[in-house]
Amino acid sequence: MENILRKKIAEAVKVLYNGAIDEAQIQIQETRKEFTGDFTFVVFPLMRFSKNTPEKTADDIGKYLTANLSEIEGYNVIKGFLNISIGGKWWTDLFSAFYNSEDLFADCRVKNPEVILVEYSSPNTNKPLHLGHIRNNLLGFSIFRILESCGHKVIKTNIVNDRGIHICKSKLAWVKFGNGETPETSGMKGDHLVGKYYVMFETAYKAEVENLLKKGYDDETARLSAPMMVEAREMLVKWEAGDEEVVRIWKMMNSWVYEGFEETYRLLGVDFDKIYYESETWKDGKEQVLKALEKNILFRKEDGSVWADLTGEGLDQKVLLRSDGTAVYITQDIGTAIARQNDYHFSKCLYVVGNEQNYHFQVLKAILKKMGYEWSDGLIHFSYGMVELPEGRMKSREGTVVDADDIIREMIATARELSAELGKLEAIPDEDKDEIFRKIGLGALKYFILKVDPKKNMTFNPAESIDFNGNTGPFIQYTYARIKSVMRKARSLGIEGDSSLLGSAIPCAKEVGLIKLLRKFAAVVTEASETLNPSLIANYCYDLAREFNQYYHDYSILGEKDPVTRNFRLLLSGKTSVVLYTAMWLLGIEMPERM
Ligand code: ARG
Repeated sequence: MENILRKKIAEAVKVLYNGAIDEAQIQIQETRKEFTGDFTFVVFPLMRFSKNTPEKTADDIGKYLTANLSEIEGYNVIKGFLNISIGGKWWTDLFSAFYNSEDLFADCRVKNPEVILVEYSSPNTNKPLHLGHIRNNLLGFSIFRILESCGHKVIKTNIVNDRGIHICKSKLAWVKFGNGETPETSGMKGDHLVGKYYVMFETAYKAEVENLLKKGYDDETARLSAPMMVEAREMLVKWEAGDEEVVRIWKMMNSWVYEGFEETYRLLGVDFDKIYYESETWKDGKEQVLKALEKNILFRKEDGSVWADLTGEGLDQKVLLRSDGTAVYITQDIGTAIARQNDYHFSKCLYVVGNEQNYHFQVLKAILKKMGYEWSDGLIHFSYGMVELPEGRMKSREGTVVDADDIIREMIATARELSAELGKLEAIPDEDKDEIFRKIGLGALKYFILKVDPKKNMTFNPAESIDFNGNTGPFIQYTYARIKSVMRKARSLGIEGDSSLLGSAIPCAKEVGLIKLLRKFAAVVTEASETLNPSLIANYCYDLAREFNQYYHDYSILGEKDPVTRNFRLLLSGKTSVVLYTAMWLLGIEMPERM
């Protein structure tokens, strides 16, 4: 319709004013809610042709369009705004076409699909996943679904930082204090058990440092020479040398952690096509660094450490190998990026990583560029903000961060309690109920996090997230379940939707409102993929659910006597449920059929 209007307006300019205007320059918008009309044309650019007031110009054009386009029902003018109303029949036909198109993503597909890697999660193997990882995993997974739905070839990847000094710390504490404790003997989830030893390391180390400070050591010397730290560093050197005993313990404890992670990923509903391990990529990284050193792209300091000088790029100097030759965090990223390029020949690699690492990724790109890898232009840091709990809320057992498993469990438990209060699910068997509570609990968590612009810091408020009446996942799920219940009821009454009848229905204003929102779906998904912003889809879901609820409140679907209108309402509701389901699927959120 927008195109038709543009064409006709250009024609009007020619006929009425003998002027020529480029169709592409004619801007048509959807009419804002507070005005009457469907499409709005702002006439100011036409005044150089009409040589008249905006009001008169708008009226001229409005008259011309009404006389020459049968779809137009009427118009009104507010200052230079021409608000055009399209007849109901046009909307019915539009809906009919939308209803019959099987593929909701047809208009989202890009002309030139790319190979895109999306790296997300990327945990360290010294502690369990926390609330920040939840946001990370949800964003990464949703970005994957959005890009893939737009036709790109997307590979979900993860880099597990399974080696390095921080990993040695938990291993060392286990060797010293563990008495052979395992997940089996302790009954603890593997990642939590290892996390416990990481905390033990920190506690013992802190005590040592304080002791040394009391003895008059300065801060840095105390931190470097505390026995726990010295031993952890020795362990790392041994690990890099392939020491059998160190490697055995490392493998065993990491395998505990992986089992734990697996479970958290399963609960969150995320997965990966390819997992990289730092223990396998750091060596290549180190070799790359040494090669670049030979070519004088990097330099060595007196103590033997190797550095990149990025001052020419507006960044700092950055250490790449320590004086004892061991690799640092960024060393493996160099190796990992190269491995990924060789494995997939990606045009883009998105790193879903918190904004505290903005500098790290600037440096990584700059170093790879210096090393001559032109594809490094395609490395993109998808930087997202911090997520916290409201003040005074639970802390994890480690006492520092909010544990992911705890949050998930608590959300599901809250969903159960709330549903019991509402008492709507009594007739349903227990396993089915469990599935519903899982979907609601996770839907609340996921939606609340994903509805926020990824760049922004946020507070996750569990109670607010599960409120059935707000801008929440459960509200949208409830709207969906409500439609499903109407459809079940229709079936039980023997009422079948018939799409061939659609053309004879004339929609009311609320129905036109719904149709307008439905037709926006593809544009919203396209924008979300171009701006890498799932929150656009989340908020679209909310708008659609709210619009539907108002409609449902005002109009009866199955109680409608006229069969054509009833059929239209049923199919409009059904399509709304499909769009809601699909949009929430893009966010990784499952929908219960009843709740
Ligand atoms: N494991 C790191 C951390 O917990 C994040 C890794 C991010 N990804 C990367 N390619 N550096 O801080």
